[in-house]
Amino acid sequence: MTSHRTLVVVAHPDLAASRITAGLAAAVSDLANVTVRHLSGASADRRFDVAHEQALLREHDTIVLQFPWHWYSVPGVLKEWMDQVLTYGFAYGSGGDALHGKKLHLVTSTGGPAESYAPSGHNRFTMDELLRPLQATAHLCGFDLAEPLVVHSAPRLSAEDLAAHAQRYRELLAPVPAAA
Ligand SMILES: Cc1cc2nc3c(=O)[nH]c(=O)nc-3n(C[C@H](O)[C@H](O)[C@H](O)COP(=O)(O)O)c2cc1C
Repeated sequence: MTSHRTLVVVAHPDLAASRITAGLAAAVSDLANVTVRHLSGASADRRFDVAHEQALLREHDTIVLQFPWHWYSVPGVLKEWMDQVLTYGFAYGSGGDALHGKKLHLVTSTGGPAESYAPSGHNRFTMDELLRPLQATAHLCGFDLAEPLVVHSAPRLSAEDLAAHAQRYRELLAPVPAAA
């Protein structure tokens, strides 16, 4: 077992009403190498303890941003966290190398089905196109960005579908056994 540590930043504005985000977070919360950080409840009046959030990021090698897809973007609570925590001199700019080389996973769920995220589909653009601002952010911060994990058709997912996604997510974050 490696000492590689993973921080899962869970950003849902109303976790009590969440099925997918809450379900996926629960599926990885008991992994020994994983710290799950729920942003709802982590801020007073939407002000985060920046030093604490930055210390958490420093302490982990892999960062996961896990959120429901809201208006083709991250929910407001995650945007607030990014605005306050990813500061000049920490995440970018002169001396801002705290995140360099860390792995970043984006894990999200959409109401729309996969086929709606296409030029001819209901949502017109692909997820890869819509994720550009997060890709640019990852690049600026020096993250090593993994392929995103996108769970589509959230309202129509059966319990079995959700369990299968949860298992896939668990396998993604489970520690890789050290080579013999
Ligand atoms: C405010 C809001 C905005 C949303 N915007 C989108 C959207 O732009 N595209 C989409 O496919 N689904 C959208 N949805 C649906 C959510 O992505 C979906 O309900 C969510 O992924 C389910 O996860 P949860 O059970 O953790 O809430 C939106 C939902 C809400 C509440």
